[in-house]
Amino acid sequence: MSTNRNPLEQSPYILVIGLGGTIAGLAANPGLSPSNYKAGELEVETLLKKVEEAIPGDLKLVSQQLANIDSRDLSEELLTLLGNTVKESLNNPDVQGIVITHGTDTVEETGFFLSAICGKLAEKLGKRVVLTGAMLPANAPQADGPLNLLDALKWVSSPPENCPGGVFAVFAGRVCLARDLSKRHTSAFNAPLMDAPCSPLGLINPSWLSRLKAVEAASGEDMPIPKQQWPWVEILTSHAGARAQALESLLDLGVEGLILAGTGFGGVHKAWLASLQQAEVKGVAVVRASRTGAGVVQGDAMDDGLHCVSSGTLSSPRARIALQLALNAAKADKSLTWQDFFARITVLPEFR
Ligand code: SIN
Repeated sequence: MSTNRNPLEQSPYILVIGLGGTIAGLAANPGLSPSNYKAGELEVETLLKKVEEAIPGDLKLVSQQLANIDSRDLSEELLTLLGNTVKESLNNPDVQGIVITHGTDTVEETGFFLSAICGKLAEKLGKRVVLTGAMLPANAPQADGPLNLLDALKWVSSPPENCPGGVFAVFAGRVCLARDLSKRHTSAFNAPLMDAPCSPLGLINPSWLSRLKAVEAASGEDMPIPKQQWPWVEILTSHAGARAQALESLLDLGVEGLILAGTGFGGVHKAWLASLQQAEVKGVAVVRASRTGAGVVQGDAMDDGLHCVSSGTLSSPRARIALQLALNAAKADKSLTWQDFFARITVLPEFR
């Protein structure tokens, strides 16, 4: 394998984009306390060098460091930069596929964002975009990053008959659609895809493959990437003793959208009801999700009463990205509403 920054010398190649995260993290005392570390310390080129010997010789790699952050600090500006870089690279005939090393804390948002803005493009071109990361820092004795990175390289370059193009995530020997990611555990190696329909990498699960094809067939056009500032959308969790003040403050400050992480099937506390009527009057977009962390929030009569839509299978963080993209698209194309765009990204067949 070779990594350098002159793609002209070695096309076609796999682009490996580094964003930071634990996979690039270093612990001060890795033997004794591997969980006490700083994320985003090593460059992606160094991560590739560490696994160089295990990378098949015919794979040509080019690395690009877009950021080196702890993904808790992920910004909308960085998502815009990443989205534009990935789309441009997909359209480059020399790029065979793209691997992205990312912190696991917000890989859920990035996975959903990339699926929404270039999932169709990747599918059309038959190319894969693969997110990966790690739960332990690079210098921990049991570091999971090297194997995850090798698996991601394996998946991005595996023959097209194995699987169509699209946006995927690879962790702990398994692959899932990036739109299904949601970190469900603080420390388990498979935390980001614990609740996602997924398949072992070496033995593609046929039911997963049919789900993948059905989701790809049903998903609409790619959404535009916001050109300027993203719409302001906040997540509010309903809970015992909820008060209206937090909601009212956001409405007064000009929030454009709200994700209500409701109880159970997406129920909201009655203390919010009057303020939610105000949200409707002010034209604030409202989506009802569930704080439970799994399952579906179906549309029902509550949506009519609250003038909101339900998030379906989307967790609150994913619903937030979907609403931001929908609000942005509706500003540019006045023939459709944000609800139309939201439905375009979120209403997909359910296979679990
Ligand atoms: C991060 O998200 O950057 C830190 C945590 C992780 O990668 O697991």
